[in-house]
Amino acid sequence: MRETILNIKDLSIWYRTYRGYARVVDHIGLQVGEGEKIGLVGESGCGKTTTMKTVMGVLGSDQIHVPNGKIEFRGKNVLEMRKPELLKLRRTGTSMISQSPMSALNPVFTIGQQLRDIIRYSGLYKKNDRKAIEEAACGALRSVMLSDPERIMASYPHQLSGGMRQRVCIASALVTPKDLLIADEPCTALDVTIQDQIHHLLRTLVEEKKRSLIMITHSLGVARELVDRIYIMYGGHIVETCRTEDLFTSPSHPYTQGLLSCVPRLSGGGLSSGIYGYVPDYVNPPEGCRFSPRCPHAGKECRTRRPPMAEIGPDHKAACFLYAGEGQEKEGAE
Ligand SMILES: Nc1ncnc2c1ncn2[C@@H]1O[C@H](COP(=O)(O)OP(=O)(O)OP(=O)(O)O)[C@@H](O)[C@H]1O
Ligand code: SF4
Ligand SMILES: [Mg+2]
Repeated sequence: MRETILNIKDLSIWYRTYRGYARVVDHIGLQVGEGEKIGLVGESGCGKTTTMKTVMGVLGSDQIHVPNGKIEFRGKNVLEMRKPELLKLRRTGTSMISQSPMSALNPVFTIGQQLRDIIRYSGLYKKNDRKAIEEAACGALRSVMLSDPERIMASYPHQLSGGMRQRVCIASALVTPKDLLIADEPCTALDVTIQDQIHHLLRTLVEEKKRSLIMITHSLGVARELVDRIYIMYGGHIVETCRTEDLFTSPSHPYTQGLLSCVPRLSGGGLSSGIYGYVPDYVNPPEGCRFSPRCPHAGKECRTRRPPMAEIGPDHKAACFLYAGEGQEKEGAE
């Protein structure tokens, strides 16, 4: 049995907006074991980045309100950490590869200055050991297939292509060892050959060094290749979780089934009918099941009550009334 390194319990996250609270993340639960690779999959705007930024403690109370829940990292609640503890968490516990490399890199410093700062700050090297710091930075750039690290170290972010900036962000997350790596769509701006190499790199890194990984992705194919367990998120709810292989053999939640039907097949067969509609308005989210306005099976109960998490099989749960009664848990919580 793996030790749980990250345990998100009954967490809700609301953004403060001029229209009122946007109740984006709603009573979710998620666990990551030591050395485990987790996939967080869901369509654009479902709350993946919001959840993981909150795990990193980078969203301030001026932006979000957390009405309930806990984020336990090795047993300590991140939501109650003071600044020094949060800095320690980011120095040794977790790092996040940002989804938007342009905003993650500081435009007024060279890549070298930024990488050297991360390495010095980690406390792994003597601050004046320039040679070791330089080697660590160049090694991290080479590991993400940037073949001329000296030029890149001397460049400002605007002097690199989008794909290069993205790889610099990945290098900066990998340059010092962390227990948990959160990769937020790390390969969106990269061509498929580089994507493939980066995915291999991430897998090798976490497997060899026994790190844990949360891979945020839109791609079920990437999740299938990379992770042990998948959480499907829809409209700020976790709607299904299971071992990766079970998701493809027995997808249970209607949203998961719709997602799988949207994957284009190389064998052809035309475009799928997709999932009609779009993610909910979080200021006025639908009552009950947030998927009900788009679900072909929606009944009266779905529009008034939140479906409980039901046990579908070993280590396989789905939040849907179609399975209610099958070993269901407390209503409204994952
Ligand atoms: N700072 C903010 N203030 C208000 N609302 C926000 C803020 N950041 C994100 N949101 C809203 O929260 C919702 C979830 O956004 P989030 O970035 O977490 O989605 P996501 O699942 O990561 O999507 P994507 O796959 O497109 O990256 C969206 O409706 C978004 O508009
Ligand atoms: S609870 Fe109802 S609306 Fe929601 S996914 Fe299940 S059948 Fe569809
Ligand atoms: Mg995102």
